[in-house]
Amino acid sequence: MRGKFISFEGIDGCGKTTQVKLLEEHLKKEGYDLLVLREPGGTRVGEKVREILLDRENLIFPVTEMLLYASSRAQLVEEKILPALSKGQMVIVDRFVDSSYVYQGYARGLGLEKVKIVNEIATKGLFPDITVYIDITPEEAIKRRQGKKADRLEGEDYEFHKKVREGYLRLVKDFPERFVLIDGMQEVLAVHKMVVKAVEEYLKGAKV
Ligand SMILES: Nc1ncnc2c1ncn2[C@@H]1O[C@H](COP(=O)(O)OP(=O)(O)OP(=O)(O)O)[C@@H](O)[C@H]1O
Ligand SMILES: [Mg+2]
Repeated sequence: MRGKFISFEGIDGCGKTTQVKLLEEHLKKEGYDLLVLREPGGTRVGEKVREILLDRENLIFPVTEMLLYASSRAQLVEEKILPALSKGQMVIVDRFVDSSYVYQGYARGLGLEKVKIVNEIATKGLFPDITVYIDITPEEAIKRRQGKKADRLEGEDYEFHKKVREGYLRLVKDFPERFVLIDGMQEVLAVHKMVVKAVEEYLKGAKV
């Protein structure tokens, strides 16, 4: 049987990486065979693309940015995700195609149509079975970042974070069958419990 494919989404600092790690530990204890990957990156080529994307010295135009993300994603899908899913492994990704819809399509204003066309090629039409969207306010994101050195994308201003959140909330509304919205304003373990509940409910339903 094909493995399940789970993605985590949300604005910078909402707790994706923290929650992916906790869910990974939980599911491994439950005996699941898992592969955890991050975007951009997750492959040798993808990690190189990631360096280009995060480097503050780089002036990257929105179209270039869209294509760089898509190239990292194409490599990840072909090299890691599809082979793992076909072996029956569960795959968890820290960001996937929705990040491009929201960041490049919506917040940077390229439009969803362009992002859709490019990403259909990059992912071969693959979408996550379930997407955990962790919702926090832009104010909270900035608070959590204080004192840390920001990379090129994290250095974006408040208005940008606000737009990104709006974009995510639209996607959640448009694709309710795939998205679960989790309140990320609560403390780490409380968020973890909600994530586990949502994922387990999905897995139970999917087995039937
Ligand atoms: N529920 C929470 N409450 C308070 N702080 C949190 C919570 N979850 C995560 N944090 C803290 O917020 C910061 C960002 O968390 P994390 O790196 O998991 O976010 P992220 O969504 O992966 O961010 P990025 O998009 O930049 O990779 C970390 O310092 C983390 O310890
Ligand atoms: Mg992270």
